[in-house]
Amino acid sequence: MFDPEELQKKLIRADPGFYTIDVCRDMARKLDRIAALKSERNAVLLAHNYQRPEIFEVADYSGDSLGLSLMAGEVEEAEVIIFCGVHFMAEIAKVVSPSKKVILPNLKAGCSLADTADAEDVRRRIEELRRQYPDLGVVCYVNTTAAVKALCDSCCTSANAVEVITAMPNKTILYVPDRNMAAYAAKNLPEKTIIPWDGYCYVHEEIEPETVQSVRKAHPDMKILVHPECRDDVIKLADAALSTSGMVRYARESEAQDFLAVTECGLSDLLSIQAPGKHFYRACKICHFMKMITLDNVLKSLETLQPEITLPEDVQAGAERSIRRMFELTSPEKIPASLASTID
Ligand code: 13P
Ligand code: SF4
Repeated sequence: MFDPEELQKKLIRADPGFYTIDVCRDMARKLDRIAALKSERNAVLLAHNYQRPEIFEVADYSGDSLGLSLMAGEVEEAEVIIFCGVHFMAEIAKVVSPSKKVILPNLKAGCSLADTADAEDVRRRIEELRRQYPDLGVVCYVNTTAAVKALCDSCCTSANAVEVITAMPNKTILYVPDRNMAAYAAKNLPEKTIIPWDGYCYVHEEIEPETVQSVRKAHPDMKILVHPECRDDVIKLADAALSTSGMVRYARESEAQDFLAVTECGLSDLLSIQAPGKHFYRACKICHFMKMITLDNVLKSLETLQPEITLPEDVQAGAERSIRRMFELTSPEKIPASLASTID
Protein backbone atom coordinates (compact mmCIF):
# COMPACT_ATOMS: atom_id res chain seq x y z
CA MET A 1 0.00 0.00 0.00
CA PHE A 2 1.32 3.44 -0.89
CA ASP A 3 1.29 5.93 1.98
CA PRO A 4 0.38 9.42 0.66
CA GLU A 5 2.52 11.16 3.25
CA GLU A 6 5.60 9.05 2.53
CA LEU A 7 5.00 9.57 -1.18
CA GLN A 8 4.81 13.32 -0.73
CA LYS A 9 7.97 13.41 1.38
CA LYS A 10 9.84 11.77 -1.47
CA LEU A 11 8.28 13.45 -4.50
CA ILE A 12 8.46 17.04 -3.22
CA ARG A 13 12.21 16.80 -3.70
CA ALA A 14 11.47 16.89 -7.43
CA ASP A 15 8.74 19.57 -7.38
CA PRO A 16 7.59 21.05 -4.06
CA GLY A 17 4.80 23.10 -5.67
CA PHE A 18 3.13 20.24 -7.54
CA TYR A 19 3.15 17.32 -5.11
CA THR A 20 0.60 18.56 -2.56
CA ILE A 21 -0.88 16.07 -0.09
CA ASP A 22 -4.16 15.95 -2.09
CA VAL A 23 -2.27 15.14 -5.29
CA CYS A 24 -0.27 12.46 -3.45
CA ARG A 25 -3.45 10.92 -1.97
CA ASP A 26 -4.91 10.55 -5.43
CA MET A 27 -1.62 9.16 -6.76
CA ALA A 28 -1.32 6.64 -3.91
CA ARG A 29 -4.77 5.24 -4.80
CA LYS A 30 -3.79 4.85 -8.44
CA LEU A 31 -0.39 3.38 -7.57
CA ASP A 32 -2.06 0.73 -5.37
CA ARG A 33 -4.37 -0.23 -8.23
CA ILE A 34 -1.46 -0.35 -10.73
CA ALA A 35 0.62 -2.55 -8.41
CA ALA A 36 -2.30 -4.98 -7.99
CA LEU A 37 -3.00 -5.14 -11.73
CA LYS A 38 0.68 -5.66 -12.49
CA SER A 39 0.74 -8.87 -10.52
CA GLU A 40 -2.69 -10.00 -11.86
CA ARG A 41 -1.48 -9.52 -15.43
CA ASN A 42 2.03 -10.86 -14.81
CA ALA A 43 3.35 -7.57 -16.14
CA VAL A 44 6.61 -5.69 -15.63
CA LEU A 45 6.86 -1.95 -15.94
CA LEU A 46 9.96 -0.48 -17.57
CA ALA A 47 10.48 3.28 -17.34
CA HIS A 48 12.88 5.61 -19.10
CA ASN A 49 14.83 8.04 -16.90
CA TYR A 50 12.80 11.05 -18.22
CA GLN A 51 9.48 9.76 -16.91
CA ARG A 52 7.37 11.57 -14.31
CA PRO A 53 8.61 10.90 -10.73
CA GLU A 54 5.42 9.04 -9.71
CA ILE A 55 5.95 6.50 -12.52
CA PHE A 56 9.23 5.38 -10.91
CA GLU A 57 7.26 4.40 -7.82
CA VAL A 58 5.73 1.44 -9.69
CA ALA A 59 8.54 0.78 -12.16
CA ASP A 60 10.34 -2.57 -11.90
CA TYR A 61 13.30 -1.07 -13.72
CA SER A 62 14.28 2.43 -14.83
CA GLY A 63 17.19 3.28 -17.05
CA ASP A 64 18.57 4.74 -20.26
CA SER A 65 17.91 3.31 -23.72
CA LEU A 66 20.77 0.82 -23.44
CA GLY A 67 19.74 -0.40 -19.99
CA LEU A 68 16.11 -0.73 -21.04
CA SER A 69 17.07 -2.75 -24.16
CA LEU A 70 18.99 -5.15 -21.92
CA MET A 71 16.23 -5.34 -19.36
CA ALA A 72 13.57 -6.09 -22.00
CA GLY A 73 15.51 -9.28 -22.74
CA GLU A 74 15.78 -10.27 -19.10
CA VAL A 75 12.19 -10.26 -17.93
CA GLU A 76 11.67 -13.89 -18.90
CA GLU A 77 8.93 -14.74 -16.43
CA ALA A 78 6.68 -11.78 -17.36
CA GLU A 79 4.00 -12.04 -20.05
CA VAL A 80 3.46 -8.32 -20.49
CA ILE A 81 5.81 -5.32 -20.66
CA ILE A 82 4.25 -1.95 -19.89
CA PHE A 83 6.68 0.45 -21.46
CA CYS A 84 6.79 3.93 -19.93
CA GLY A 85 8.81 5.88 -22.46
CA VAL A 86 8.42 6.75 -26.12
CA HIS A 87 7.40 4.73 -29.17
CA PHE A 88 10.84 3.76 -30.51
CA MET A 89 11.81 2.45 -27.06
CA ALA A 90 8.70 0.27 -26.85
CA GLU A 91 9.55 -1.05 -30.34
CA ILE A 92 12.98 -2.07 -29.05
CA ALA A 93 11.36 -3.94 -26.17
CA LYS A 94 9.25 -5.82 -28.74
CA VAL A 95 12.32 -6.58 -30.90
CA VAL A 96 14.34 -7.81 -27.93
CA SER A 97 11.43 -9.67 -26.35
CA PRO A 98 9.21 -10.78 -29.26
CA SER A 99 7.14 -13.34 -27.36
CA LYS A 100 5.80 -10.74 -24.91
CA LYS A 101 2.89 -8.36 -25.22
CA VAL A 102 4.47 -4.90 -25.24
CA ILE A 103 2.16 -2.04 -24.30
CA LEU A 104 2.86 1.68 -24.74
CA PRO A 105 0.25 3.46 -22.57
CA ASN A 106 -0.09 6.37 -25.03
CA LEU A 107 0.67 5.78 -28.72
CA LYS A 108 1.13 9.51 -29.25
CA ALA A 109 4.32 9.37 -27.16
CA GLY A 110 6.66 9.60 -30.16
CA CYS A 111 10.05 11.26 -30.59
CA SER A 112 10.58 14.24 -32.87
CA LEU A 113 14.22 13.17 -33.41
CA ALA A 114 13.21 9.68 -34.58
CA ASP A 115 10.59 11.31 -36.83
CA THR A 116 13.28 13.21 -38.76
CA ALA A 117 14.41 9.95 -40.41
CA ASP A 118 11.78 8.36 -42.62
CA ALA A 119 12.76 4.80 -43.65
CA GLU A 120 12.31 5.43 -47.40
CA ASP A 121 14.45 8.58 -47.25
CA VAL A 122 17.15 6.69 -45.33
CA ARG A 123 17.10 3.85 -47.88
CA ARG A 124 17.55 6.35 -50.75
CA ARG A 125 20.36 8.20 -48.96
CA ILE A 126 22.22 4.93 -48.27
CA GLU A 127 21.97 3.94 -51.97
CA GLU A 128 23.19 7.37 -53.07
CA LEU A 129 26.14 7.41 -50.63
CA ARG A 130 27.16 3.80 -51.37
CA ARG A 131 27.78 4.83 -55.01
CA GLN A 132 30.22 7.46 -53.74
CA TYR A 133 31.68 5.48 -50.77
CA PRO A 134 31.53 1.75 -51.51
CA ASP A 135 32.79 0.96 -47.99
CA LEU A 136 30.00 3.01 -46.31
CA GLY A 137 28.85 1.74 -42.91
CA VAL A 138 25.50 2.86 -41.52
CA VAL A 139 25.02 3.43 -37.80
CA CYS A 140 21.68 4.47 -36.42
CA TYR A 141 21.09 6.02 -33.04
CA VAL A 142 18.57 4.12 -30.96
CA ASN A 143 16.19 7.08 -31.47
CA THR A 144 14.97 5.74 -34.82
CA THR A 145 11.99 3.66 -35.87
CA ALA A 146 12.45 -0.12 -36.07
CA ALA A 147 12.04 0.25 -39.87
CA VAL A 148 15.11 2.51 -39.98
CA LYS A 149 17.09 0.22 -37.65
CA ALA A 150 16.37 -2.60 -40.11
CA LEU A 151 18.27 -0.66 -42.82
CA CYS A 152 21.38 -0.03 -40.74
CA ASP A 153 24.51 -2.07 -40.05
CA SER A 154 24.45 -1.34 -36.35
CA CYS A 155 22.40 0.50 -33.82
CA CYS A 156 23.98 2.52 -30.97
CA THR A 157 22.84 4.48 -27.93
CA SER A 158 24.12 7.63 -26.25
CA ALA A 159 26.06 5.30 -23.91
CA ASN A 160 28.07 3.60 -26.68
CA ALA A 161 27.91 5.65 -29.94
CA VAL A 162 31.65 6.38 -30.06
CA GLU A 163 32.48 2.77 -29.12
CA VAL A 164 30.20 1.35 -31.86
CA ILE A 165 31.60 3.64 -34.57
CA THR A 166 35.17 2.84 -33.46
CA ALA A 167 34.48 -0.88 -33.73
CA MET A 168 32.86 -0.64 -37.17
CA PRO A 169 35.34 -1.80 -39.84
CA ASN A 170 34.24 1.02 -42.22
CA LYS A 171 36.11 4.33 -42.45
CA THR A 172 33.08 6.23 -43.74
CA ILE A 173 29.96 6.16 -41.62
CA LEU A 174 26.49 7.55 -42.24
CA TYR A 175 25.14 8.45 -38.78
CA VAL A 176 21.34 8.65 -38.54
CA PRO A 177 19.53 10.80 -37.35
CA ASP A 178 21.18 13.09 -34.74
CA ARG A 179 23.54 15.66 -36.27
CA ASN A 180 24.76 16.77 -32.81
CA MET A 181 25.79 13.25 -31.83
CA ALA A 182 27.38 12.80 -35.26
CA ALA A 183 29.47 15.95 -34.62
CA TYR A 184 30.36 14.71 -31.12
CA ALA A 185 31.49 11.34 -32.52
CA ALA A 186 33.43 13.01 -35.36
CA LYS A 187 35.32 15.13 -32.85
CA ASN A 188 36.27 12.02 -30.85
CA LEU A 189 37.12 9.94 -33.92
CA PRO A 190 39.16 12.07 -36.36
CA GLU A 191 40.25 8.90 -38.19
CA LYS A 192 36.65 8.30 -39.40
CA THR A 193 34.60 10.27 -41.90
CA ILE A 194 31.18 10.71 -40.34
CA ILE A 195 28.34 11.86 -42.57
CA PRO A 196 25.48 13.22 -40.45
CA TRP A 197 21.75 12.97 -41.07
CA ASP A 198 20.24 16.40 -40.48
CA GLY A 199 18.11 15.56 -37.43
CA TYR A 200 18.13 16.92 -33.90
CA CYS A 201 16.15 16.63 -30.69
CA TYR A 202 14.03 19.75 -30.16
CA VAL A 203 14.52 19.47 -26.38
CA HIS A 204 18.33 19.41 -26.38
CA GLU A 205 18.72 21.79 -29.32
CA GLU A 206 16.97 24.53 -27.32
CA ILE A 207 19.48 24.46 -24.45
CA GLU A 208 21.76 27.49 -24.81
CA PRO A 209 25.44 27.71 -23.74
CA GLU A 210 24.73 31.07 -22.02
CA THR A 211 22.35 29.34 -19.58
CA VAL A 212 24.99 26.78 -18.65
CA GLN A 213 27.70 29.46 -18.36
CA SER A 214 25.61 31.60 -16.03
CA VAL A 215 24.97 28.66 -13.65
CA ARG A 216 28.67 27.77 -13.76
CA LYS A 217 29.61 31.37 -12.92
CA ALA A 218 27.44 31.29 -9.81
CA HIS A 219 28.69 27.82 -8.74
CA PRO A 220 32.27 27.32 -9.98
CA ASP A 221 32.74 23.93 -8.22
CA MET A 222 29.65 22.40 -9.75
CA LYS A 223 29.97 19.42 -12.12
CA ILE A 224 28.27 19.92 -15.47
CA LEU A 225 26.84 16.76 -17.03
CA VAL A 226 25.66 17.10 -20.62
CA HIS A 227 23.73 14.72 -22.87
CA PRO A 228 25.46 14.17 -26.25
CA GLU A 229 22.22 15.19 -28.03
CA CYS A 230 23.11 18.78 -27.03
CA ARG A 231 24.79 21.18 -29.43
CA ASP A 232 28.57 21.30 -29.68
CA ASP A 233 28.72 24.76 -28.01
CA VAL A 234 26.99 23.23 -24.96
CA ILE A 235 28.94 19.93 -24.89
CA LYS A 236 32.14 22.01 -24.86
CA LEU A 237 31.20 23.31 -21.40
CA ALA A 238 30.73 19.86 -19.88
CA ASP A 239 32.77 18.03 -17.26
CA ALA A 240 31.33 14.88 -18.82
CA ALA A 241 29.08 14.02 -21.80
CA LEU A 242 26.98 11.06 -20.70
CA SER A 243 23.83 9.05 -21.30
CA THR A 244 21.02 9.61 -18.80
CA SER A 245 22.04 6.58 -16.69
CA GLY A 246 25.68 7.67 -17.01
CA MET A 247 24.64 10.96 -15.36
CA VAL A 248 22.88 9.13 -12.51
CA ARG A 249 25.98 6.97 -11.89
CA TYR A 250 28.32 9.97 -12.09
CA ALA A 251 26.28 12.03 -9.60
CA ARG A 252 26.03 9.12 -7.15
CA GLU A 253 29.71 8.21 -7.30
CA SER A 254 31.24 11.70 -7.45
CA GLU A 255 32.58 13.43 -4.36
CA ALA A 256 31.06 16.69 -5.65
CA GLN A 257 27.90 18.02 -4.04
CA ASP A 258 26.57 20.29 -6.80
CA PHE A 259 25.61 19.21 -10.30
CA LEU A 260 23.94 20.61 -13.37
CA ALA A 261 22.23 17.98 -15.55
CA VAL A 262 21.95 19.50 -19.02
CA THR A 263 19.21 17.42 -20.58
CA GLU A 264 15.47 16.77 -20.27
CA CYS A 265 14.06 17.94 -16.89
CA GLY A 266 12.88 14.48 -15.82
CA LEU A 267 16.50 13.52 -15.21
CA SER A 268 16.94 16.34 -12.67
CA ASP A 269 13.72 15.15 -10.95
CA LEU A 270 15.10 11.62 -10.80
CA LEU A 271 18.47 12.80 -9.47
CA SER A 272 16.86 14.97 -6.79
CA ILE A 273 14.95 11.91 -5.54
CA GLN A 274 17.75 9.34 -5.88
CA ALA A 275 20.63 11.39 -4.45
CA PRO A 276 18.94 13.30 -1.59
CA GLY A 277 22.07 14.79 0.01
CA LYS A 278 23.27 16.44 -3.19
CA HIS A 279 22.13 19.54 -5.02
CA PHE A 280 20.97 19.57 -8.63
CA TYR A 281 20.70 22.84 -10.54
CA ARG A 282 18.65 22.90 -13.70
CA ALA A 283 19.39 23.86 -17.28
CA CYS A 284 16.81 21.54 -18.66
CA LYS A 285 13.82 21.48 -21.02
CA ILE A 286 10.72 19.32 -20.95
CA CYS A 287 10.11 16.58 -23.54
CA HIS A 288 6.34 16.67 -23.97
CA PHE A 289 6.40 13.19 -25.56
CA MET A 290 7.87 11.61 -22.43
CA LYS A 291 5.31 13.38 -20.27
CA MET A 292 2.43 11.84 -22.26
CA ILE A 293 2.74 8.76 -20.04
CA THR A 294 0.68 9.28 -16.88
CA LEU A 295 -0.57 7.12 -14.01
CA ASP A 296 -4.03 7.31 -15.64
CA ASN A 297 -2.98 5.86 -18.98
CA VAL A 298 -0.70 3.29 -17.30
CA LEU A 299 -3.70 2.16 -15.26
CA LYS A 300 -5.92 2.01 -18.33
CA SER A 301 -3.32 0.07 -20.32
CA LEU A 302 -3.11 -2.53 -17.55
CA GLU A 303 -6.89 -2.86 -17.50
CA THR A 304 -7.24 -3.22 -21.29
CA LEU A 305 -3.76 -4.53 -22.30
CA GLN A 306 -3.83 -1.93 -25.06
CA PRO A 307 -2.34 -0.21 -27.08
CA GLU A 308 -0.05 -3.03 -28.13
CA ILE A 309 3.15 -2.60 -30.16
CA THR A 310 3.45 -4.98 -33.10
CA LEU A 311 6.01 -5.07 -35.91
CA PRO A 312 6.03 -6.59 -39.41
CA GLU A 313 8.22 -9.71 -39.52
CA ASP A 314 10.88 -8.24 -41.84
CA VAL A 315 11.21 -5.11 -39.72
CA GLN A 316 11.42 -7.21 -36.55
CA ALA A 317 14.21 -9.36 -38.07
CA GLY A 318 16.16 -6.39 -39.50
CA ALA A 319 15.96 -4.31 -36.32
CA GLU A 320 16.99 -7.33 -34.28
CA ARG A 321 20.08 -7.78 -36.46
CA SER A 322 21.11 -4.14 -35.98
CA ILE A 323 20.57 -4.21 -32.20
CA ARG A 324 22.45 -7.53 -31.91
CA ARG A 325 25.34 -6.04 -33.90
CA MET A 326 25.58 -3.19 -31.40
CA PHE A 327 26.12 -5.72 -28.60
CA GLU A 328 28.51 -7.83 -30.72
CA LEU A 329 30.66 -4.74 -31.40
CA THR A 330 30.73 -3.46 -27.83
CA SER A 331 29.80 -6.07 -25.23
CA PRO A 332 29.13 -9.55 -26.68
CA GLU A 333 28.81 -10.96 -23.16
CA LYS A 334 25.71 -8.79 -22.65
CA ILE A 335 23.73 -9.89 -25.73
CA PRO A 336 20.20 -10.50 -24.42
CA ALA A 337 19.43 -14.25 -24.53
CA SER A 338 16.50 -13.70 -26.92
CA LEU A 339 18.84 -12.08 -29.48
CA ALA A 340 21.74 -14.47 -28.98
CA SER A 341 19.64 -17.44 -30.05
CA THR A 342 18.46 -15.86 -33.33
CA ILE A 343 19.98 -17.01 -36.61
CA ASP A 344 19.78 -14.62 -39.60
P1 13P B 1 19.44 7.93 -23.08
O1 13P B 1 19.62 6.67 -23.85
O2 13P B 1 20.71 8.60 -22.71
O3 13P B 1 18.54 7.71 -21.91
O4 13P B 1 18.71 9.00 -24.05
C1 13P B 1 17.51 8.78 -24.70
C2 13P B 1 16.89 10.02 -25.18
O5 13P B 1 15.87 10.02 -25.83
C3 13P B 1 17.54 11.26 -24.87
O6 13P B 1 16.78 12.32 -25.34
FE1 SF4 C 1 13.08 12.25 -28.50
FE2 SF4 C 1 14.27 14.45 -27.62
FE3 SF4 C 1 12.19 13.49 -26.31
FE4 SF4 C 1 14.57 12.17 -26.25
S1 SF4 C 1 14.09 14.19 -25.39
S2 SF4 C 1 12.54 11.27 -26.57
S3 SF4 C 1 15.29 12.61 -28.31
S4 SF4 C 1 12.19 14.30 -28.42
